[in-house]
Amino acid sequence: MSTGYLSFDEMAGQYDETRNYDEGCFSSALDYLVSRFPPDRFPSVLEPGIGTGRIAIPLAERGYQVTGVDVSKKMLAVLDRQIKQMSQPLPISFYQADVQVLPFLDESFSLAMVVHLFYFIRDWQRAVREIIRVVRKDSPLVMMHTGTGAEIPSLNQRYKELCAEAGSPTQEVGVNSNTVVVDYLSSLGYRAEWVKDRWQWSTRISLDRAVSFIESRSYSFTRFVPDNVHLSVVKKLAKELRQKFGSLEAEIEVPNQIYLVMIQK
Ligand SMILES: C[S@@+](CC[C@H](N)C(=O)[O-])C[C@H]1O[C@@H](n2cnc3c(N)ncnc32)[C@H](O)[C@@H]1O
Repeated sequence: MSTGYLSFDEMAGQYDETRNYDEGCFSSALDYLVSRFPPDRFPSVLEPGIGTGRIAIPLAERGYQVTGVDVSKKMLAVLDRQIKQMSQPLPISFYQADVQVLPFLDESFSLAMVVHLFYFIRDWQRAVREIIRVVRKDSPLVMMHTGTGAEIPSLNQRYKELCAEAGSPTQEVGVNSNTVVVDYLSSLGYRAEWVKDRWQWSTRISLDRAVSFIESRSYSFTRFVPDNVHLSVVKKLAKELRQKFGSLEAEIEVPNQIYLVMIQK
C-alpha cells in the first residue's frame, strides 16, 4: 500500500450490502443532525471518503449541498449510478481526490461529515488537518459511526487470531478508534460532544452470510492477507463454527448502534 491509504476499489461491488443499518435509527440520527446544524445555516457539507453515497444521498435529501471526494473510482461509479437513478436531481458533486490534499480553498464548507474514513489513512492526522483547513473556522466536524453492518465482530476477531497464528497478522492502516481522533482534535483546541446510546438495535446474522463476506474479502482487514493464508483460515473458521453451532445456518444476535461525535472550536 504505497499510497498511504486504502482505496475501496476492490470492495465497491459489495460495499452497500455489507454496511446496512437500522433505517429508523439512521434516519433519526440524521434528523438529529439537521436539528443541531440546520441546512439554512450550514448549507455546504463536505464528505471526504464519500464512497457510494450511503450518507451523502440522505444528507442531500435533507437539504444540504454535498460535495464529496474519494480516491476510489469504483466507489464513485456506484455513487454516480445511484444519483442518476434518483427520481429528482440531488445537490451532490464529487471528485476523485485524496482527503490529504483537498482541491478546495480554505474555509469553503460549513460542515464536514466524516464516516468511517480515518481507519484507512496512515497519516490520518494530516487528513484531519486538511479537513479543518477547508471548513469555516466556526464549523462543526461531525463523525458518525453507523454500526458493524453485516459483520459478526467475534468472527472477525477469530479470523484475525487465525491469521496471526498462521504467521500473517492482519494489518490496520490508519487510526483504530474515533476516540484517538477526538484526542488529537482536543490537542488542537477542539471540543467534542458524543451522542451515544440513543440509536440502538440488534440484528440476527447467519454465520453463513458473515463467513461469505469475509471469504469474498469484503472487509478491509482481509485485504493484505496472502491468498493461501486467507483461504485456509476461512476454511478453519467455518470448521470451528460448524463444530460449535452444528451448522453455518445458525444465527447470532449482534447488538448495534449509530453514534455521532460533534466537534467544534
Ligand atoms: C468505509 S468507506 C466509507 C464510505 C462512506 N463514508 C460511508 O460511510 O458509506 C471508506 C471510503 O474512504 C475512501 N478513502 C480511503 N482513503 C481515502 C483518501 N485518502 N481520500 C479520500 N477517500 C479515501 C475509500 O475509498 C472508501 O470509499
